Amino acid sequence: MHSVSTSNSAIGIFDSGVGGISVLRHICSALPAENLVYYADSHFAPYGTKSPETIAERSFYIADFLIRHHGIKTLVVACNTATAAAVELLRQRYHIPIVGMEPAVKPAAQATKTGVVGVLATSGTLKSAQFAALLESYGQHIQVITQAGHGLVECVERGELSGESVHGLLKQYLDPLLIQGVDTIVLGCTHYPFLSSAIREIVGNDIALIETGAAVARQLKKRLGEHGLLSRRDADGDITFYSNEADALKAERVIASLWTEPGCKWKFFAQEVSGNV
Ligand code: DGL
Repeated sequence: MHSVSTSNSAIGIFDSGVGGISVLRHICSALPAENLVYYADSHFAPYGTKSPETIAERSFYIADFLIRHHGIKTLVVACNTATAAAVELLRQRYHIPIVGMEPAVKPAAQATKTGVVGVLATSGTLKSAQFAALLESYGQHIQVITQAGHGLVECVERGELSGESVHGLLKQYLDPLLIQGVDTIVLGCTHYPFLSSAIREIVGNDIALIETGAAVARQLKKRLGEHGLLSRRDADGDITFYSNEADALKAERVIASLWTEPGCKWKFFAQEVSGNV
């Protein structure tokens, strides 16, 4: 049990499942001396079709767990859907820096030449007030075509990053974007960067794919610096994964297939399903 966090305490990171590992890899390379604790809420994935209230309850449960067991000094919501549903509530409840994420509409608006941008995200993110505000701020002078990626999160959760069914789903979602002339596609869900190769097979190399993991890692580093919370450790930190996926062996296998950073030590713990939802 931990109660007080210090600059050498761990950084907590969570997602509805394994998607946030696409953010974790950027955090690990930007902040190698930090201990990182990642919670995959895979039993409850996908979040994209759940109510904001349910997602907020799961977020509280995970934050409590990470604070109680690791005394985390900061929390990264490595999930666009959970950020939209719960980041403000998390900030009201916990007095540690909390970093969230949102689809990269702003950089996409700056990058597009055709003026037509596609956003592939969960329906929860696309329906959220935060996303409407994002479009209001940065989408005024471009055409933004949104597309919900139903079923894609489940593919990544199974460790299925290519093959017929992934290709079929992606084609169904990407073809309409291509027909409408997008030159930039925002990957607005942290699971989707793991499908980049399969996406490239459909859209080719001339379309820009924008993800937010590196920007989140930069923002996290800045916030930790401002709060005097950067690790003072000389050696590399370590990484702990928790997953509440019912099949623990499968969970560990999928994490091992996605966590391909060389030289990073990591351990895995299966979690029982608990919480009120
Ligand atoms: N990876 C998440 C996101 O960035 C959530 C996906 C889901 O569980 O629906 O939106």
